[in-house]
Amino acid sequence: MKKMISSALIIGLLSPMIVCAADSASAAYSVHIRSLAASCAACHGTHGNAVSTSNHGDSTPALAGVSKADIIAKLQAFKSGERSATVMHRHAKGLTADEITALAEHFSMQVPYNPVILEPQRLRADHAN
Ligand code: HEC
Repeated sequence: MKKMISSALIIGLLSPMIVCAADSASAAYSVHIRSLAASCAACHGTHGNAVSTSNHGDSTPALAGVSKADIIAKLQAFKSGERSATVMHRHAKGLTADEITALAEHFSMQVPYNPVILEPQRLRADHAN
């Protein structure tokens, strides 16, 4: 009986530590997913809000607010080669199924907005040559 009580006590004392360990593991995973998502920003814009400019014609598609299922389906199609692409087949091949799901969730939750299109910087006449 004494042994049972002390086991219960140990479990009771340890369980918050186990919960903390699980929390920090998921926090690390979330940092990992946010880092991956940041790598998409170079082409898909900040938080998935792609900038469309006349210079680039039809720019890279926006991801912000697109449904999770839609993003998963598209990334899996790039990964399997079912959908041809200029660059996305390469990116998608480097992602695991879990990462695809988490990225899709991340971008589906971003608020879509029309990003400000920056004017190209003009060269001063004395810098032109
Ligand atoms: C080097 C630029 C570049 C990067 C970085 C990039 N993408 Fe893309 N993405 C594209 C282009 C270009 C397309 C259009 C398909 C193609 O030609 O590859 C596209 C298409 C997509 C599509 C399909 C959108 C649609 O509506 O058809 C999804 C989803 C997507 N990308 C997700 C991502 C995610 C998630 C990341 C980051 C892990 C990422 N992309 C990183 C350039 C990029």
